[in-house]
Amino acid sequence: MIESYPYNVLALKNLKELPFRKDVTFIIGENGSGKSTLVEAIAINAGFNPEGGGRNFNFKTNETHSELYKDLVLVRSPYRNKDGYFLRAESVYNLATNIAEMPDVLQYYGNTSLHEQSHGESFLNIFINRLYGTGLYILDEPEAALSLQSTFSFLVRMKELVELKSQFIIATHSPILLAYPNADIYTVTEDGLELVEYEDTEQYIQTKYFLNNYEKMIAQLLG
Ligand SMILES: Nc1ncnc2c1ncn2[C@@H]1O[C@H](COP(=O)(O)OP(=O)(O)O)[C@@H](O)[C@H]1O
Ligand SMILES: [Mg+2]
Repeated sequence: MIESYPYNVLALKNLKELPFRKDVTFIIGENGSGKSTLVEAIAINAGFNPEGGGRNFNFKTNETHSELYKDLVLVRSPYRNKDGYFLRAESVYNLATNIAEMPDVLQYYGNTSLHEQSHGESFLNIFINRLYGTGLYILDEPEAALSLQSTFSFLVRMKELVELKSQFIIATHSPILLAYPNADIYTVTEDGLELVEYEDTEQYIQTKYFLNNYEKMIAQLLG
């Protein structure tokens, strides 16, 4: 067992093999549990730019990705290999700058500079206009950019892309995204990743409890 980053993150504990059995696989867990480390390594191993984008992007603003990707072996079926995208909500800005420098690429993003749209709009725009199916899409906290309405639009588009033979791997905290039917949810526990049912996730249980008891909870939290 190697004890330094990235090998010491909880998401990697006891990890030998991680089956992606469904069209959509979610990875959930506390802040700092290693979700981003894991999905980023999968994305780099799959040939994506660490900072986000499709396979043709190779810009970098900050080299913060770990070496973990070198230790992974991805086993992939060829039929979902036409398109692909790695997107972290926090790096849409850098991606937008890079796209703006490539005028012939803008047509794939609805022909409006992503900088002239809000964070959520540009994120949704990539999702709706740029992704076209038969692809592998790896997303890190997509909900961070999205309003509730946009989150619903995101779910609808995700279903369309799944019907176009796409596969998603998504690190998220969103109790709404997690409701996507027939998905696998891996949660990071003290023993590493474990499969969990939607209604047994903390996101579902605690959000439901909070909404049903928000006055009591706020009183407890804030005194
Ligand atoms: N570049 C880095 N160097 C050292 N430690 C890091 C680095 N990036 C993340 N970490 C640490 O690894 C742990 C997991 O981080 P991360 O994968 O971002 O978690 P999550 O996405 O689940 O919130 C955190 O404790 C974080 O501080
Ligand atoms: Mg993260």
